[in-house]
Amino acid sequence: MSNELKLAENIRIKKLDEENYLILQPDVPNILVGNHLLVELLKEFSKPANPHVIAKKISSQVKAEQASLLAQIEAIKRGGFLIQRGEKIETRLTREKPGGIVKMYLTLSERCNLECKHCFRSADSTKERNQLGIETLQQLIEEFAQLGGEDLIITGGEPFLEKEKLFVVLEASARHSIDTYVLTNGTLIGSRDIDQLAKLKNVTLIISVDGAKEETHDFIRGKGSFARITNTIRQLVDADIDVILNFTIMKTNYHEIEEFIGLATQLGVKVLEFQPLIMQGRAIKNKKALDLTNSELLQAYSTLRRLSKQIPRPIIVLYGEPLALVQLSDLTKRGCRLQDGTVAVDGKGDIYPCQGFMYPEMRLGNLNLGSLEQQWSSSPVMDQLYQLNILDFKECSGCELKYICNSGCIAEGYAQTRDLTSKNPLCGFLKGFYWDLIKEGAMKLLDET
Ligand SMILES: C[S@@+](CC[C@H](N)C(=O)[O-])C[C@H]1O[C@@H](n2cnc3c(N)ncnc32)[C@H](O)[C@@H]1O
Ligand code: SF4
Ligand code: SF4
Repeated sequence: MSNELKLAENIRIKKLDEENYLILQPDVPNILVGNHLLVELLKEFSKPANPHVIAKKISSQVKAEQASLLAQIEAIKRGGFLIQRGEKIETRLTREKPGGIVKMYLTLSERCNLECKHCFRSADSTKERNQLGIETLQQLIEEFAQLGGEDLIITGGEPFLEKEKLFVVLEASARHSIDTYVLTNGTLIGSRDIDQLAKLKNVTLIISVDGAKEETHDFIRGKGSFARITNTIRQLVDADIDVILNFTIMKTNYHEIEEFIGLATQLGVKVLEFQPLIMQGRAIKNKKALDLTNSELLQAYSTLRRLSKQIPRPIIVLYGEPLALVQLSDLTKRGCRLQDGTVAVDGKGDIYPCQGFMYPEMRLGNLNLGSLEQQWSSSPVMDQLYQLNILDFKECSGCELKYICNSGCIAEGYAQTRDLTSKNPLCGFLKGFYWDLIKEGAMKLLDET
């Protein structure tokens, strides 16, 4: 290490507690934790400096061995905190383009038997029926399987309004052992459906439950729906069918998270999913009743992190799994599903990049026009999405967390502004959320050392 080293740009130093500091290199991203001596060591490199000279200087001050200090400086350099003259930290500016389609969202029904207050799709009973023939659906699953597709997510509207087509798709995906998830409101599942589902070992039902109490859930989803679905969930669990409960965090229910986990335990459900409300569709009309402040949403996520450590069961949290499961570099993958190799198909056979981008101008093609893969890989729309550079997001380019957050799910900003480079509408929450995770990561590091 004869070359001079300098502190990299954008390094942030924050006090963690009375003794310790957190040092964030947001462009890698990476964190360091340590006491004031670490901060002083780093400050020695505010201007280019020779590590041997600094190690010698510090070693005489703190009675540490020069060789051990040099090794620490080398480790700090490897973490991207110190750089050589002319060196640039490689930052991830765009979304990584996956090799192919891995995950497919299939909107089997635009229609719905319910009219939930928060529904971002504004689904109701007046929406169009699915127009795809049985054969087209079978061919679609066949092609998905040939492409090596791993996850099929069937959604709506309410997929159980198209039972015949739903079971055709489920049986086709079972033939290829594709992990298949059906997002459902759970109100239309009868005992014959349960018998049929029990035979399919690749299917998981994701049932929406929007409150721990009957009145909270029914306020969103309509009277009688809580009683109906809790009964159905019990029957599904008894029949050994995999069930996940999906909870959308809103003003009406964010204080019921702990109780909701208790309810899931009573019902025998082991996996829970949580996601924040997005302000789209009917949620906009009901904003006053449903929208959370940033601090309320942060409180909900902090409850989730606390509980996920206490409860020995998977809790899947959109915008970040419990920190115990997350490496800091994994944080950069949260929020945007495009990197998973997604495609979405609607009830007319139109193909889109993902579930959040089902707009005419984002259409990649139609199942009538040729192969799914060919239309997906040759579409200029896909190229445009993967070339999006966070530095082109006017409101994000100066943000210290830009390489970690990457503006989250870009479809959420697009839904409100029709501008692909607008910052995420949950920005205020995301900033607090990522800093909370970074601080928890640092505390964990401290505990380990
Ligand atoms: C659109 S629904 C379709 C499947 C099914 N009808 C159901 O309700 O589960 C898919 C999921 O999106 C959730 N959802 C609806 N509107 C939302 C919003 N504004 N923000 C976040 N999630 C929402 C629902 O609660 C449900 O879990
Ligand atoms: S959230 Fe689901 S159940 Fe509720 S209206 Fe929308 S599609 Fe229907
Ligand atoms: S959405 Fe907000 S937190 Fe995320 S990169 Fe943009 S400005 Fe930063």
